[in-house]
Amino acid sequence: MKDLESMSLKVENGKLFVLDQQMLPHQEDWIESKTPEEMSKIILDLKTRGAPLIGVSAVLSLALYAEKEPHPEKIMAKAELLRSSRPTAVNLMNAIDRVLEVGQKTQWDTLEITKEAENIFEEDVELCEKMASIGSQLIKPNENVLTHCNTGGLATVGRGTALGVISKAYENQKGIHVYVDETRPLLQGGRLTTWELESLGIPYTLICDNMAGQLMSVGKIDRIFVGADRIAANGDFANKIGTYSLAVNAKFHKVPFYVVAPFTTFDKNCPNGKEIPIEQREPDEVRGVKGSFGKVVWSPKNAETYNPAFDVTPESLVSGYVLDKGLFKASELSKAFEN
Ligand code: MRU
Repeated sequence: MKDLESMSLKVENGKLFVLDQQMLPHQEDWIESKTPEEMSKIILDLKTRGAPLIGVSAVLSLALYAEKEPHPEKIMAKAELLRSSRPTAVNLMNAIDRVLEVGQKTQWDTLEITKEAENIFEEDVELCEKMASIGSQLIKPNENVLTHCNTGGLATVGRGTALGVISKAYENQKGIHVYVDETRPLLQGGRLTTWELESLGIPYTLICDNMAGQLMSVGKIDRIFVGADRIAANGDFANKIGTYSLAVNAKFHKVPFYVVAPFTTFDKNCPNGKEIPIEQREPDEVRGVKGSFGKVVWSPKNAETYNPAFDVTPESLVSGYVLDKGLFKASELSKAFEN
């Protein structure tokens, strides 16, 4: 496999490395993933995360495995293991399906499998650029935009989805300011989006998730951009927990609310949001926090919790979908993703 490099995933001399996102922003630890088992655990633990990034991470891991163990049954078994790492982001399943299809079509030619995994990496970079240039045109000079979770270079191998749009608008001298939802429970906004915005020099203000509605009520938010983990055929979409509340608030306050996603996030076989599988996570993530700053449990040790990693936002709350092919409405999605 050739060398590949991105903000938090790289291949060097045939070895796969992941920037441990659980340790950001205070520690930058690159860890090696030697096997699909290790990668599956890395994905489950959110050391690598973000819908496009977990798809790319999984197929690089699978292709490296295939190079060492070129046996179809073994490759398919590892593919299933990787596929089961997390259930909601369809990019993971879509990327694995693509690599397996190439395997099947080429009598499991490992050169071809590797090439497809590399293509998926390089394609993601291009998709991000396309979404950024389309979406950034929606932003007017000096606007305050709000975003949720982390959708930047840490969630893709390119410049990101929603955060890519925002950074492009900044690059285009729009003079923007970003409100960043901290994104409980795992703080992808507070730890990761802030880290990216700092390094890009983009002005931002970090807020707790429950402050977004108040900011909208006083007219401080001009536009909201979020990513997606799975978009159903009718436009309903799953994204990080908290997205739905933002969308409801945005509708009430008439703040334009955009979803930014590449075609790899579309699930044409999923008719609507009710059919999207939602990952439930460990209670301890809600009882406290842990990271490079240490570990705190602030609730009673065995407090009952509810911890869905994602929620579903109905298409009726979305102002537009910024895709790699243009800006679309929900009713146009199936067609847009087909071509
Ligand atoms: O649980 P995570 O951190 O993987 O969730 C990530 C998100 O919800 C992002 O908003 C989504 O993957 C789109 S980003 C490119």
